[in-house]
Amino acid sequence: MIVNRTILTLDEFTLQQLRAFPTATGELSSLLRDIGLAAKRVNVEVNKAGLVDILGDAGAVNVQGEDVKKLDIYANNQFMGVLKHGISCAGIGSEELDDVVVFDDEVSNNSKYVVLFDPLDGSGNIDVNVSIGTIFGVYRRVSEIGKPCTAADFLQAGNRQVAAGYIVYGSSTMLVYATKRGVNGFTLDPSIGEFSLSHPNIKCPPSGKIYSVNHGNFFQYEKSVQQYINTCQKKDKTNGGPYTQRYIGSMVADVHRNLLKGGIFMYPGTIDKPKGKLRLQYECNPFAFITEIAGGKATNGKQRILDIVPTELHQRSPLFIGSINMMNELEEYLKQA
Ligand code: AHG
Repeated sequence: MIVNRTILTLDEFTLQQLRAFPTATGELSSLLRDIGLAAKRVNVEVNKAGLVDILGDAGAVNVQGEDVKKLDIYANNQFMGVLKHGISCAGIGSEELDDVVVFDDEVSNNSKYVVLFDPLDGSGNIDVNVSIGTIFGVYRRVSEIGKPCTAADFLQAGNRQVAAGYIVYGSSTMLVYATKRGVNGFTLDPSIGEFSLSHPNIKCPPSGKIYSVNHGNFFQYEKSVQQYINTCQKKDKTNGGPYTQRYIGSMVADVHRNLLKGGIFMYPGTIDKPKGKLRLQYECNPFAFITEIAGGKATNGKQRILDIVPTELHQRSPLFIGSINMMNELEEYLKQA
């Protein structure tokens, strides 16, 4: 029988994936639907941020010592809220909160997952109308089911993620998520208010022509990184170039573009901040998981991002991530350091 179909929505897609595993409980599908709902709510506020009094600093400073924007708080509360009221999540860690939140009720204590997220990455770009995003990583808890989740659930290496994803609030709003089975992208269709499958089975091109790095920090980078950047600038037709430098200052948008078009994103350590700026659990791990599943690579310059075992919740890490051939070339320089 031929059934006429329109594009699959996020909910339909996750259910379709579930049908392939008759023993699955549906908890992960439900969790992804919860995240999709929070993303839609945040999207509404992001879109009207210029019109209402939701722009600008909230007057508080987050645990990283950075100004917290009002939309950050709104986004944090939305994602935390859907996960708390859902049936799949035992607790969360958020870049905006000092400590993890253990939901500790009967349903949550019986849930198998915890989620770590950055509710609004690139918030410095909010008030200038530039793309921002949400990033999340989902882990199967290591603590005993039936009891409240514990700190150990949130300090797992990134290779223990069962799913990771991001939402980019850009010219369109997109939700991209990865499981071990693949990476799929959904564009928010405003006419029906649903994320619809627009980018099935995303693969990161093995090579690209884009390199993304904050050039303002160039003289703070170690020599090998500087040499690689010089190489990027010198590329021409004879060796895969010329390259283009693109750096938005919202890693969600930068890495999303490179994932689709091929490229490399770098946030190296600097003399002042040897561990760089990005947070391992909220930013590096989810993107490393997604990029690896898509065929790319992610390291901190010395080791695979996904193999780092975190020792603290808000740990920072240098990040080099992108197309496999570009990453391999970068690593040749880093090895010489
Ligand atoms: P924030 O959420 O505080 O605006 O930080 C954004 C992150 C990341 O998304 C981006 O790539 C990077 O910080 C930009 O930092 P620099 O301005 O130091 O390059």
